[in-house]
Amino acid sequence: MTRPVRKQPSQLRSARWFAPDDLRSFGHRSRLMQLGYSPEEFMGRPLIGILNTWSEINSCHSHFRERAKDVKRGIQMAGGFAVEMPSLSVDESFTKPTSMLYRNMLAMEVEEMIRSHPFDGVVLMGGCDKTTPGLVMGAITAGVPMIYLPAGPMLRGNYRGQHLGSGSDAWKYWDERRAGNIDEKEWEDLQGGIARSAGVCMTMGTASTMTAITDAMGLTLPGASSIPAVDSGHQRMSADCGRRIVDMVWEDLTPDRIVTDASVRNAAIVAMATGCSTNAVVHLVAMARRAGVDLSLDALDELGRDTPLIANVRPSGKDYLMEDFHYAGGLRALMVQLRDRLDLSCLTVTGRTMGENLEGARVWNDDVIRPLSNPIYKEGSLAVLRGNLCPDGAVIKPAACDPKYHVHEGPALVFDSYPEMKAAIDDDNLDVTPDHVLVLRNAGPLGGPGFPEWGMLPIPKALIRQGHRDMLRISDARMSGTSYGACVLHVAPEAYVGGPLALLRTGDIVRLDLPLRRLDMLVDEAEIVRRREAWQPPEPRFERGWGWMFSKHVTQADTGCDFDFLQHDFGRAAGEPDI
Ligand code: FES
Ligand code: MG
Repeated sequence: MTRPVRKQPSQLRSARWFAPDDLRSFGHRSRLMQLGYSPEEFMGRPLIGILNTWSEINSCHSHFRERAKDVKRGIQMAGGFAVEMPSLSVDESFTKPTSMLYRNMLAMEVEEMIRSHPFDGVVLMGGCDKTTPGLVMGAITAGVPMIYLPAGPMLRGNYRGQHLGSGSDAWKYWDERRAGNIDEKEWEDLQGGIARSAGVCMTMGTASTMTAITDAMGLTLPGASSIPAVDSGHQRMSADCGRRIVDMVWEDLTPDRIVTDASVRNAAIVAMATGCSTNAVVHLVAMARRAGVDLSLDALDELGRDTPLIANVRPSGKDYLMEDFHYAGGLRALMVQLRDRLDLSCLTVTGRTMGENLEGARVWNDDVIRPLSNPIYKEGSLAVLRGNLCPDGAVIKPAACDPKYHVHEGPALVFDSYPEMKAAIDDDNLDVTPDHVLVLRNAGPLGGPGFPEWGMLPIPKALIRQGHRDMLRISDARMSGTSYGACVLHVAPEAYVGGPLALLRTGDIVRLDLPLRRLDMLVDEAEIVRRREAWQPPEPRFERGWGWMFSKHVTQADTGCDFDFLQHDFGRAAGEPDI
């Protein structure tokens, strides 16, 4: 690899704001002096934006106020000038109807704020599910050097001597509560024990999947993704991000040199080996497309068939959580197991190759990070289905469902909305058997609206009481990365826009054949045509505001749900602002 050429201070992007002897630059300099800085502190130095998604209602990022100070310390130490700027804090727990409605808002904000401000480089502080893809998508398009600072997982949950996993154990114990096995007091203890420190969900849910993907793509410091949020190592990593971004600016190490076909493929392989969240499909496709890399669902399926799942982390793994994964060596150790399948020549934020970054990494507990010869599951985490119910694809997590459902045929029980389904499943007298296939539609990108995480449809109470804990479920929704079960998700095109799922009726036989990657309704073709002709499009969900804009421009699940006008090849690039 050729040595980086070092930029001169006069070549900094920020020099356009500060260097000229004109009236505008006088204004810019005087306003920094208004903030209490002397010219020596900012003139000729890389100006680094710390884009911080902290908010008082984002429990996963509650340590970010402190961490931003560590980043600043690193930037100053390396001779840069640091400014912290808030970015949209899209949290997973409180944002309704779903945080996914706002991922693209964050991506737009980041792109526009980088372009319009004198940033020479940025540190992106995120972690809670949608913040990772949102920040990265916007920053890739903006194109200045960037480094991703992952929030890190929270500590393991703790309840009566057991380790609790985010999401997964909430679902598990909720079923027990519905079955009448858990009283009020126990429920309250669970509530206090399941999330007990700053940081993101500590199962291999969407947050840890997305930060692992970002790490594997070379956008974080090596192995940063699994450092627990409250570990002092996380503070040191934050300062290191600050130090490193300054040099990345001098080296002009821009994201287009890091996010390539090869690094996206590396990220997909690593995701499969970790037992990733199904949301990885949507976000990885969207992030890659921002860099002009077209990652198809079929390519993902192929990688899935051939990559063993080796991270024994819940919910796909059985026993461990992210904290254990970190102590076992973390992502670098996992990537060492996958060495022969990865392109180790990819450039990373360190300025070195992925192969160089992995030197010296090893596994400290081979029950947590398994060798390829002893996987949790011999195929990868995700499979992509096609068939007359999902011509543009659907996704399932084979390792997270009971194998008896891998090939299954049963009558559909169809619900048009979440409230309709919720009322039915709580009905003790619902006419349902374990062979039934629960279907929820109008829950996709446009129908949800916003593609909510409703895809782990609750098992009907009547079946819970009989001891059943899994059944085949189909929806055009997503599901939380911490969920599990025989859930077919992301059916595309979605029912709301007239996809075939809209034509299914209660009682129709549905067939899933996972080995053949098929999902079909066994309904006569002529009858399907009749139903299509009779189908009426539903009422629009939004008539104003962000929702209206979202409805006009969001793409379907198979292309990542980005906005059409934000995609890589849409129109002429915005270029630098006039100053
Ligand atoms: Fe923030 Fe799970 S709620 S990562
Ligand atoms: Mg989640």
